[in-house]
Amino acid sequence: MRKKIVSIIKNGEIGNNFVVKGWVRTKRDSKNIIFMELNDGSCVANIQIIINSDYEKFEEMVQVNTGSSLSIEGKLVKSQGKGQRVEIIAEKIEIYGLADSENYPLQKKRHSFEYLREISHLRPRTNTFGAVFRIRNGLANSIHQYFQKKNFIYVNTPIITSSDCEGAGEMFTVTTLGCNDCKKKNIEEESINYEKDFFGTKTALTVSGQLEGELLALALGDVYTFGPTFRAENSNTSRHLSEFWMVEPEMAFADLNDDVEVADEFIRYIIEETMKNCSEDMEFFDSKISKGKIESLNNVVNSTSEIITYTEAITILQKSNKNFQYAVEWGIDLQSEHERFLTEEYFKKPTFVINYPKEIKPFYMKLNDDGKTVAAMDLLVPGIGEIIGGSEREYRYDLMYNRMVEAGLDPVEYSWYLDTRKYGTVPHSGFGLGFERMVQYITGMQNIRDVIPFPRVPGNVF
Ligand code: 4AD
Ligand code: MG
Repeated sequence: MRKKIVSIIKNGEIGNNFVVKGWVRTKRDSKNIIFMELNDGSCVANIQIIINSDYEKFEEMVQVNTGSSLSIEGKLVKSQGKGQRVEIIAEKIEIYGLADSENYPLQKKRHSFEYLREISHLRPRTNTFGAVFRIRNGLANSIHQYFQKKNFIYVNTPIITSSDCEGAGEMFTVTTLGCNDCKKKNIEEESINYEKDFFGTKTALTVSGQLEGELLALALGDVYTFGPTFRAENSNTSRHLSEFWMVEPEMAFADLNDDVEVADEFIRYIIEETMKNCSEDMEFFDSKISKGKIESLNNVVNSTSEIITYTEAITILQKSNKNFQYAVEWGIDLQSEHERFLTEEYFKKPTFVINYPKEIKPFYMKLNDDGKTVAAMDLLVPGIGEIIGGSEREYRYDLMYNRMVEAGLDPVEYSWYLDTRKYGTVPHSGFGLGFERMVQYITGMQNIRDVIPFPRVPGNVF
């Protein structure tokens, strides 16, 4: 049975024999000895393999190049060279597959992230992407841990849905009607009869599991979802994907203050745990991708977040004398440049903005007593901007009904949702954390396309 390189490097006993399997990262040949760096994806570090000229198939090893896959059995010895504790003297080698050295797209030199995106099927074999995907795993694990410790129930909400949670009309239609044909025949969307479609009604990929999450919270108490969500918005930025993962807790008997408190504790917990459990990968990001990352995340864990109202945020932005591209006045939706000024330059730490104008937020948020704002909260973090969006939900039937009509939603179609406000309604709150933005935040990776294995963005399915 093979041993993973991560455990051999950490605590493999010198003098014992091990079997390691992986892909060759680099190889240096000389007449009497071959040095090979083998990586199996279990950690960023490679294990050094020594092949001495007395090995029976020494000559055959010359054709083994970067990218080839091997099984190696040999003795673990203290390394003579610098940079590693141990190395393996090969005794038995099996070649699984050679890699054509001239055409292998991952040569030893440094490749740009743009280039690597074009070969998303191979980029997991690089140091950076191996580390990113292990951090994704560590982060996901810490997210489940946090909620399980707090007795939240993990629930799964549907991916195919007939409701537009965010009311922004940015959904991908799911149909078997053969719409290509419709386009060819110049058939207008309005004339498509969705009653004849697969589900007998118009359906789409979900933009958020929140509405169904609410139904479950209003029976189970505290719940959370962690699943894929889809947005057909034409945003070609370093923070937007068409398919991304969202973590959405929903809590019965919780108001906006509780919501902020949980979001704040949650973020700190997952940062701290991931830094602890993925320390080697974090060191990689700290030295190679974003200098000082570990220190700045430690500061986040050990300091308090800022909480300001939207109205205060507008005042700060107006007084900043900054030349923003989008003019600042009460009522605007905060743009990325505004968010980043607040969290990066002004407060220099994670910042909650609460109580936004109702016009710029979805129908389900609780109307505040001023009649103008809703009990919303966004968490902004340096380098990213908005990482969490959440709110206290409108739980009063009449007000919810009015907000739906105002937002152009048909209350009859949402009667199942309104039922929860009719039968035993309670105050409740929740939020959504964009998982990829969180991975960006913790790793310092600049482009969101480089923190998900196979990014989907307008015009491209990598
Ligand atoms: O602010 P959003 O749109 O909130 C909701 O969908 C609520 N229903 C959540 C809830 O209260 N349960 O999205 C939540 C988060 C954002 O803060 C952002 O981090 C991320 O999801 N997000 C995206 N991430 C990548 N690509 C996109 N296109 C994203 N849109 C939102
Ligand atoms: Mg939002």
